Amino acid sequence: MSAPRKPLVVGNWKMNKTIAQTRAFAEDLRARALPFADVDAVICPPFTALCEARDVLADLPVGLGAQNMSWADGGPYTGEISPLMLVELGVDWVVIGHSERRALFGELDERVNEKVVAALRHGITPIVAVGETGQEHVAGLATARVREQVTLAFAGIAPADVARCVVAYEPIWAIGTGNADSPPEANALMSEIRGAVAGLEHVRLLYGGSMSPGNVADFLAQPDIDGGLVGGASLDPASFAALLEGARRGALA
Ligand code: 13P
Repeated sequence: MSAPRKPLVVGNWKMNKTIAQTRAFAEDLRARALPFADVDAVICPPFTALCEARDVLADLPVGLGAQNMSWADGGPYTGEISPLMLVELGVDWVVIGHSERRALFGELDERVNEKVVAALRHGITPIVAVGETGQEHVAGLATARVREQVTLAFAGIAPADVARCVVAYEPIWAIGTGNADSPPEANALMSEIRGAVAGLEHVRLLYGGSMSPGNVADFLAQPDIDGGLVGGASLDPASFAALLEGARRGALA
């Protein structure tokens, strides 16, 4: 029997919040009693607000994550941010392969793999995002598509290094729609992820896609769901605090 996995709630702010708005969020969060002993919390502000989030939350155990990064350490890559730059800022987590990066910025599975390798090389924990489209879902292809994405994301990576990662299952049709997957269905697919690649047996698996304070506990009560990658509901400090509390309750159920 493995040790129980500590719940993890990651707020992916996407392209939201200026530095001033980040400061306001962080100052509000600081004033709240949060269940840090039972739940790990990470926020992923835009690159421009990482320093502000780090400084205001310096004495709290809130992890700092980036939403993307380059696979290269440096060079002629206009507009990109290297893992070295993130390490210098104190970033410990990075979302890799978010469906918005894949769909809007042409990020392919091979690139996702290179970024996972780069993050591991620099000691940043990759949160590898996978998920099927609505069409694939309706066609019954979700499991096959997600297994393929996971297999390609971790291709050539030793199981001991795979075990240092986090995987987020985000069905694309559930993102930002208010139409979350059902917890048992998400769990069934996520148990497939756990078995897809050697090393994933004990990693934390996050669900993402319209997760909210109202449904987080139901997701966390599932055996293969260890947390959430949350967009919209992570932007308000009261809602983020409620997500942490709901994750704590759900994991105890
Ligand atoms: P929502 O929580 O807004 O559906 O976004 C999910 C997501 O894409 C997190 O990465």
